[in-house]
Amino acid sequence: MPATKPPPESVLISESRLQHRIRELGAQISTDYENQELVLLGVLRGSVLFFADLARAISATGPPNPDCGVRVRFEFVQLRSYHESTKPSKVQLIHGGSDYLEHRHVLIVEDIVDTGYTLKFLREHLGTLNPKTVKVCTLLDKPAQRQVPVAIDYIGFEIPDTFVVGYGLDYAQQYRNLPYIALLESI
Ligand code: IMP
Repeated sequence: MPATKPPPESVLISESRLQHRIRELGAQISTDYENQELVLLGVLRGSVLFFADLARAISATGPPNPDCGVRVRFEFVQLRSYHESTKPSKVQLIHGGSDYLEHRHVLIVEDIVDTGYTLKFLREHLGTLNPKTVKVCTLLDKPAQRQVPVAIDYIGFEIPDTFVVGYGLDYAQQYRNLPYIALLESI
């Protein structure tokens, strides 16, 4: 039986702060892509809750506003990163998006950027699919651990160098369904 880990001990970002900031991000993205088609590319699994709330915060084309808003399409990729001691993380593609990305505006929706290896890998992969533009929206940015430089266009919150769970983020597949971001202390 796996060892039971201590539960998250303290809330770092409350549900109301998360939702307020996501509405701001959605408004900014709605302005930046007004009247255009935008492919939201979710990175499974950690981004799912953020993806769902962000998508609804982007003003939609359709009733009652058929002539303005953003024409949004959903696509997903699934990646796995693993660590070998003393070597940089390796990232592996499990499910790789779709041919639909070709000649489209793509917005990568990430849960957290930490070392930057995942984003670097994903950008290189997307380069082979020939999108028109690629931007990045991450809920959390942890710049203290950055190993490779990555450009991020929309950041929800910058957080200190600490391990967090909740709102999609896990520790050993637990805690993803917390509606807030919590510090996982004493691991
Ligand atoms: P990277 O180090 O920027 O490549 O991030 C790789 C992945 O590590 C992220 O997409 C997350 O799934 C995971 N990750 C990094 N920091 C945390 C954390 O504080 N909590 C939960 N997952 C994390």
